[in-house]
Amino acid sequence: MKALVLAGGSGTRMRPITHTSAKQLVPVAGKPVLFYGLEAIAAAGITDVGVIVGDTAAAISAAIGDGSVFGLHFTYIQQDRPLGLAHAVAVARDFLADDDFVMYLGDNFLLGGITEVVDDFRTCGNRDAQILLSRVADPTAFGVAELDGTGRVIGLEEKPRHPKSELALAGIYLFTPLIHEAVESIRPSARGELEITDAIQWLIDHGGRVHSSVISGYWKDTGNVPDMLEANRSVLETVDAVQEGYVDEASTVIGRVRIEAGAKVIASRVVGPAVIGPGTEVIGSCIGPYTSVSEDCRIEDSEISCSIVLRGCLVTGVRRIEESLIGRDVEVGMSRRTPAAHRLVLGDNSRVQIPS
Ligand code: DAU
Repeated sequence: MKALVLAGGSGTRMRPITHTSAKQLVPVAGKPVLFYGLEAIAAAGITDVGVIVGDTAAAISAAIGDGSVFGLHFTYIQQDRPLGLAHAVAVARDFLADDDFVMYLGDNFLLGGITEVVDDFRTCGNRDAQILLSRVADPTAFGVAELDGTGRVIGLEEKPRHPKSELALAGIYLFTPLIHEAVESIRPSARGELEITDAIQWLIDHGGRVHSSVISGYWKDTGNVPDMLEANRSVLETVDAVQEGYVDEASTVIGRVRIEAGAKVIASRVVGPAVIGPGTEVIGSCIGPYTSVSEDCRIEDSEISCSIVLRGCLVTGVRRIEESLIGRDVEVGMSRRTPAAHRLVLGDNSRVQIPS
């Protein structure tokens, strides 16, 4: 069995972060979201992995390399334009050959991994495809499944205006080579993409055996900022207290906080769950709860909660930053000039909320 990991796409809902990096590389509890999926694939005993990449190919390959650190072997597959999930399967046709495969969307997060579902698919041997479903509050943002009274999938719709159920398709699918016939048979949707949802519907319409199971644990599509912050909160709940960095006597660390090697916490209060990345300095500040600060940041005389701060940021003299995603090498500081005013240098598609 092989895996196909989708790490291309345009990431419009994550701008401006995705102007310079890939959305799959935003860290959740200090680790890029993509890494969780790769680790889950390795844990399920799969080694041969095709990685679909687009415009952010260089950033993705710099982060995950040849796969050896995960115990995996990667074949990079370039998708010139993000023409849809089924298009990605078509682009990977040669790599996938006639093997069964698990398709994993690189911005999806599934707590507890995929070992059970992969084992189930392998041993059962009488399914053409297997999908995972999760109950969501707003199904209009997802592929949505309709089941009959016995739990059999009878229909799938991509981002329907009037969903027939609250069961969203999670971005983890298991396929036999029959999916290639389906992918070749479908046409682009109204939004111009070759939808994997339509390919699975084609299987159902042509007598394919499509099995579904409803996920009981935590699943999240981290494709936008609020969902990314929510995933960060949920994963931080599983973090253990580890102190590899330095904490001075004037500081207080409460609850499950991971302070990584080379980090320094000086005259500060860190409330878990939280992660302070390697080489980051926290001085005279309050961090947490539910906050991940990546490597090589400096947070001074500031308060940050329920947020993700990426590598190399400098935050000084700023009270009450909350529910924020701060990109790499960003500076957020206090203005000492009069008249008191907000002075901003913001990249395209930035979003700032200032109490007036
Ligand atoms: O997360 C689950 C949802 O994922 C499903 O419920 C939907 O049925 C499915 O269509 C998909 O919807 P999204 O709108 O969230 O897909 P998105 O465009 O965000 O792409 C998902 C991942 O696949 C993301 O990591 C980018 C990558 N991708 C996407 C496209 C369209 C590619 O690598 N190539 C592509 O052409």
